[in-house]
Formats: sequence, C-alpha cells, structure tokens
Amino acid sequence: MQFFIDTGEIDEIRQWAGSGLLDGVTTNPSLVKKSGRDMLELIAEICSVTDTPVSAEVAALDHETMLKEAAVLADIAPNIVIKLPTTLDGLKTCNSLSQQNIKTNLTLCFSVNQALLAAKAGATYISPFVGRLDDINLDGMDLIRDIRIVFNNYNMRAKILAASIRSVNHVSESALAGADVATIPTSTFEKLVAHPLTDKGLDAFVKDWASTGQTILKG
Ligand code: E4P
Repeated sequence: MQFFIDTGEIDEIRQWAGSGLLDGVTTNPSLVKKSGRDMLELIAEICSVTDTPVSAEVAALDHETMLKEAAVLADIAPNIVIKLPTTLDGLKTCNSLSQQNIKTNLTLCFSVNQALLAAKAGATYISPFVGRLDDINLDGMDLIRDIRIVFNNYNMRAKILAASIRSVNHVSESALAGADVATIPTSTFEKLVAHPLTDKGLDAFVKDWASTGQTILKG
C-alpha cells in the first residue's frame, strides 16, 4: 500500500519527503485555509519538494469552470493530480481530464455507487472518506472493503485512496481491506512506527551492548 500525507504544511512535507516513505501528498481547501498560504504558491512549492503525486483541488462546482481551474493547476507541475468532488459536474470533468491523460482524484466519496461512477469516468484515484463515515456512526472501513470487491469484480483500475484517516488503526485496517493508498495526517503518520515493545526491547539491547564494551566501527 502507498502512503500519502494529507497536509498543506510545507515543513511537514519537506520532512517526510526526505524519509523515503512518502508516495504522495493530498491537500484540500480546508488544509489550504489552515496553512494561511496562497494556494497556487503552496502547490508549486510542494511540487518543488516532491515529484510524487500531489492532489490539488478545484474550487468551482460547475464543469466549465472546473475544467479551466484544472488547466491552471495541471500547468504547475507534471506530478499534479486534479482533485474533483464526486458530483455529476466533477465526474464530467474527470472524464474530460482523463481523455487528456491528466490524473484525477475524486474526493468526498461516501458510497460504492459514487466509486463505480468515478472509475467509469476514468478517475486515477477515488477517495472514500473513512473518518467522516465513522463520525456519523457508520463503518468507513466497510466502504473500502465493498469498493475493493466491486473494483475487483469488474477489473476497474482506479486506485482506492483511503482518506479521512484518523488513527493508526485506520491505516492498518485500510491495508487489510485492500486500499491501494492511504492518505494520512502527519500526526498519525508519526505514530505508525511506534510500539512500546520496540522501545523496551531497544532499551535493553542498548544497555547490554554498552556493558560488553565493544564497538562495531573500529576505525
Ligand atoms: C483527503 O483527500 C482529504 O483531504 C482528507 O483526508 C479529509 O480528512 P478529514 O475528514 O479529516 O478532514
């Protein structure tokens, strides 16, 4: 499974871009607002830091304006992925962009039918929002599992991008459910590697090694 980070904070992206663990970045209008940055400048800076796929979201709600905004965004860098809402206008725009070989990420997906339509419209990624379904007492992970089954049934190539990830369990459960990608806030990304038994075991190894008085680097 690929790991994207879900952030508009350039310092966080710089940090993770150097880790070798980052496969992409997703942003949205709320994350741009939180960053306090000019969107076009921010997206250009992100693309100067990483050549992995960077999702940049259109603001328009109608097909014609979405297409114009997508052209501006796609011009920023070759790794731009145009993020579109999963609406009729978003699907029409997705279809047009896929014919121009421009990558797309259909966002705010909450049902199998929306995912099917996105795949049919040529989406590169479809983003089911796991956490927001959990928020209303549904099971976001069920949606990932169901979309996986349907995409496998029809050999649909759109990648399932588990979004609205709120916990480390969401990440491992998305992997078990067959998501191709998880986009993860950096606060959760940092916790993925943590395990108390790793810390405890390492502590003991460090102490025992020190007591041997040995070194590996002799020079
Ligand atoms: C995905 O592309 C979205 O930007 C994001 O995952 C939304 O997450 P939230 O529901 O925590 O806002």
